[in-house]
Amino acid sequence: MGDLLIHPSGPLRGTVTTPGDKSITHRALMLSALAEGTTAIEGWVPAEVCLATLRCMRQMGAEIEEKNDALIVTGAGPRGLREPDDVLHCAGSGTTMRLLAGIAAGQPFTTVLTGTEPLRRRPMGRVAGPLRLMGATVLGRHGGTLPPLTIRGGGLRGIDYSLPVASAQVKSAILLAALFAAGETVLHEPGPSRDHTERMLRWFGVEVASQGRDVGLLGGQILRPPAGADALPVLTIPGDFSSAAFPLVAASIVPGSSICLRRTGANTSRTGLYDLLVRMGGDVALSASDLPGAALPDEMHEPIADVQVRHAALRATEVAGDLVVRAIDEFPIFAVLATQAEGDTVVREAAELRVKESDRIATVAAELRKMGAAIDELPDGMIVHGPTRLRGATVACHRDHRLAMALAVAGLVASGTTTVKSAEAFDDSFPGFVETMQALGANIAWVDAEPRRDV
Ligand code: S3P
Repeated sequence: MGDLLIHPSGPLRGTVTTPGDKSITHRALMLSALAEGTTAIEGWVPAEVCLATLRCMRQMGAEIEEKNDALIVTGAGPRGLREPDDVLHCAGSGTTMRLLAGIAAGQPFTTVLTGTEPLRRRPMGRVAGPLRLMGATVLGRHGGTLPPLTIRGGGLRGIDYSLPVASAQVKSAILLAALFAAGETVLHEPGPSRDHTERMLRWFGVEVASQGRDVGLLGGQILRPPAGADALPVLTIPGDFSSAAFPLVAASIVPGSSICLRRTGANTSRTGLYDLLVRMGGDVALSASDLPGAALPDEMHEPIADVQVRHAALRATEVAGDLVVRAIDEFPIFAVLATQAEGDTVVREAAELRVKESDRIATVAAELRKMGAAIDELPDGMIVHGPTRLRGATVACHRDHRLAMALAVAGLVASGTTTVKSAEAFDDSFPGFVETMQALGANIAWVDAEPRRDV
């Protein structure tokens, strides 16, 4: 582990299975831990941040074991969580910290949440504020807006709340707290954030009302996995569109490529990058996949598809509004795509990128410029002037998993050698990234895996 070496690659070819969805794995662990009964979780991703959630749920009283690649979770039930006897460590995961803050707010005990240094810089006022309105005590650094957070929960009441930013993490935190609140909670969202929590709550039998950008639920509902015939109820996690995004873009920009990404999550709240590729002239297609959840009602199951992609000549585009939310995690790799498109690609209304795992406007622009990209930073986005012939360089990923993978993909079309320093950061979401890219024929390897020359 450590530094990755990437060289210009010939055509990418083949079929790979997209690894499990990080967002949905977090939710599966949390909701099954809150449920009455036992749930099997299949297709989960052993990403570092999901393992952090797993440990936190154990500390709060859920029983979790691994059996034949599935996680078997015996929930603590609605009143069964216990006060953790130590601080909960959320690693670098905003989803873990914000969603757990919502669960902790509903509990009549004290929970302390912390994480890595980059996580401790990320804004938590957006969850602390509404959780306080519901009646929880939330303390943190910097006036209660930065981790570590200390939460004393219980005695919550439902709220009617308009979210200032479109954020699935904030929405989910409040919905999870709302399960423990008296009365109804109703949320109004400014944009179409991912709806995995709502779908999974329904799978666990909770009635969630949603209409347009409004979503709500009545407190006091009990989560129960649907009764299986003899076997355990199985919650199947689809592939992560945000992980598929890296080979998807790689195949779009490496001449001669043609690949297929199997069982990829195709929830439209996540597939903005696909729509952008179509708009830019990309050669992409979705086809129905073998959906384990296909028999479930639409509002409960996560759609899955196979994604076919071939290299194509691309033209620039403009991105703002809902598409930003639907592609919110894809801007590091989208910027790489834009360096290969003809014309100026403009991203606006994306200031949220500044408070992700890194300031993704600043870090993406700075690192891609080292490779010869022409990128202007905007306060709320960027302009990428394309096409540019990238050149290999030594680049840093700022402990940001998606920046590490985006830079590695850029290296496939750059002249010479690209070195991504401390690239193991990608373990946060896509532990098999290097092997997957190698299986498709990408010229990528760990520095230590290089043949050594005798001197
Ligand atoms: C996530 C929501 C998004 C996304 C993050 C995962 C989730 O964050 O960027 O990677 O699992 O709910 P925001 O809710 O802050 O937009």
